[in-house]
Amino acid sequence: ETNEEIDERVAGMSLAEKVGQMTQLDLARLSGEDPWDGGELNEELLETAFEENHVGSILSGGGSTPVENTPEAWAETTNEIQEYAIEATGVPIIYGIDAVHGHSNVVDATMFPHAAGVGATWEPEYAEEIGDHTAEVVRATGIHWNFGPAADLARDLRWGRYYESFSEDPVHTSIMTAAETRGLQGEDGPDGDSIAATVKHFTGYSEPFGGLDRNPAHIPQRRLRTQHLPPFQAGLDAGAATVMMNSGSLNGVPAHASEYLIQELLREEMGFDGVIVSDWEDIHRLRSIHEVGESIKDAVRLVIGAGVDMYMVPYEIDDFVPNLIELVEEGEIPEERIDASVRRILKLKHRLDLFDDPYVDPGVAEEAVVGADRDLAHESAAKSMTLLENDGTLPLSGEESLLVTGPAATDVAIQMGGWTVEWQGLDDAEEEPPAVTVLEGLEDAAGDVTHVPWDREEPGDEDELESAAEGADVAVVCVGEGSYAEGPGDDQSPSLADAQADLIEQVAGTDTPVVCVMLSGRPLTLEGVHEHIDAFVMGYLPGTEAGTAVADVLLGEENPGGRLPFTWPRHVGQAPIYYNHYPGEGEFDPLYEFGDGESYTDFEYEIASVDPGTVSDPSPDSTVELTVEVDNTGEHDGDDVVLVFGDREFTSGPLMLPDRQLLAFERCHVESGGSTTLTLEVPLGPLALVSGDVPDDGERYVESGEYRLFVGEETTELHVE
Ligand code: IFM
Repeated sequence: ETNEEIDERVAGMSLAEKVGQMTQLDLARLSGEDPWDGGELNEELLETAFEENHVGSILSGGGSTPVENTPEAWAETTNEIQEYAIEATGVPIIYGIDAVHGHSNVVDATMFPHAAGVGATWEPEYAEEIGDHTAEVVRATGIHWNFGPAADLARDLRWGRYYESFSEDPVHTSIMTAAETRGLQGEDGPDGDSIAATVKHFTGYSEPFGGLDRNPAHIPQRRLRTQHLPPFQAGLDAGAATVMMNSGSLNGVPAHASEYLIQELLREEMGFDGVIVSDWEDIHRLRSIHEVGESIKDAVRLVIGAGVDMYMVPYEIDDFVPNLIELVEEGEIPEERIDASVRRILKLKHRLDLFDDPYVDPGVAEEAVVGADRDLAHESAAKSMTLLENDGTLPLSGEESLLVTGPAATDVAIQMGGWTVEWQGLDDAEEEPPAVTVLEGLEDAAGDVTHVPWDREEPGDEDELESAAEGADVAVVCVGEGSYAEGPGDDQSPSLADAQADLIEQVAGTDTPVVCVMLSGRPLTLEGVHEHIDAFVMGYLPGTEAGTAVADVLLGEENPGGRLPFTWPRHVGQAPIYYNHYPGEGEFDPLYEFGDGESYTDFEYEIASVDPGTVSDPSPDSTVELTVEVDNTGEHDGDDVVLVFGDREFTSGPLMLPDRQLLAFERCHVESGGSTTLTLEVPLGPLALVSGDVPDDGERYVESGEYRLFVGEETTELHVE
């Protein structure tokens, strides 16, 4: 359909049909119980959704799946819903899902590292390839829309969604967000072969007060514009078809009801013309969380009036559909406002080819999903592994006798994290997906392995542990945290559980070297434990192939090249913590810095040139080229990540710049004794100031003066005039 045809279609729709298009239901939520009745779709629910309410979209939240959770059953079910919807409404539905690290609602799907791990690879290609794979398997089961990537910054490790972000840094997050968007949608997508991406949650979601999900955020314009908006803009520039709003409030206004955020910023300034979807029940939450709106009808007026196009999961369908119809009939919301939303939604359905090709072939779904892309899952997980300590114990030769212990050695829920089969991950799930555990990976790769089980919260057999540790050459102690998502994952004290800290201490007491492998979505603090660790590998939430990836790194098949995408605090009192804060007197002393990561080899840098060395008439779009030589002076081939930071000794004042700011990065492979020369395009935008004292809502501009660019200890001057 062309734009004119879409206009015509909208003109021919009744108000109720249009409001239906703006409604998205989770079938399970609609009934308050399972939508599937003995494996059959519930007719009554379908009738309510499509015949009575003309609903335009369905989603499956974290744990909502057909009774028989196979790709084939998924495809059959989405086809059935689609057929019903088309017959009842004349318009195909768009089906959404949270496939944030693979097809998260299908038991047999391959799961990739969560975003924090992808961020640790510093390789946008993985974000893109994972997006591409996800699009393929999701689409094969009749789903057209992914609620990802998250463009939020990982700023507060107490927050239960920390691991869904690529990084604490805006430049890093921007590049990864754009890459995943391209992967999900294709270069010019979305289209009939791909799915729609959603950059979420607009904006400020990741800095909730106290680190508690959906708590208010207070972010001055200066920080909003320099830190939080760039990743969203990058996702939009990469073509993201949809944006999801932040469930929380920003600077005293619920984001869903903020005309400023939606109209001024997102639509006008950032130029977004796609679909804006609410988060789950967020019109209802306007009142239940933010205490805004004297009635639910008021809340509908505020959110739809502010510009949200589609309401994800009304608390009760009657809270939304009849109220919105009435608001239009009463002249409180102009019908053109509704038409604009419906036009965007239909256009998206058209781009996804849903009018012409709404069904999938259940016969091919199984093959498309089961066992797919295990190599990519393995490679991306292996490339994310970050070596943070090594006294020389690693790499292992493969000849050692190993003790393998700790909950993350065998607990698949830990390696997968949340949004896996169930919303809260496998801790809540009845069935486990296929996966290689760390124990299995090491048994396969190393041969002489003794396993002593140890729970997350409860100690195992201490005598067995002691004698196994004494008899081993090296102990691999695998620690981590249970799976979680959103608010249930908030943790005011994210440190290693006592039972696991004791485990490390007890093994260390035998004098057997301790290699600690942590699988977790955030940097768990290690007070009192850190000193007992001889080698330390952070593995994030690596997914299906955790075991092969960890084994590769421990045995030196893969020289660890991952680097931290976040700052690791010494203790929880340092949270929230991130590197690019404004200068101040207090000393910033984390356990590990943003970008940290060791290797089995050594790298040295030399900055060869910066071109031009003087930038005239600078703007936030100005770039320079920095050429860096990377020498591998050690004895192993390996990957390195070159991080280019910028700073100034003094600004002209009164505005401040962060102590340092990441400007560009590139991962490279260098053979032992070899070298490579990288030329990086370095943008000056991340060094831009935002004018105005208080209020601080001015323009972004790059001030003239002397800047310093640096890579490791190597620095060069940059003159801006
Ligand atoms: O996409 C998610 C969002 O990130 C959090 N609330 C629920 C949505 C749909 O499951």
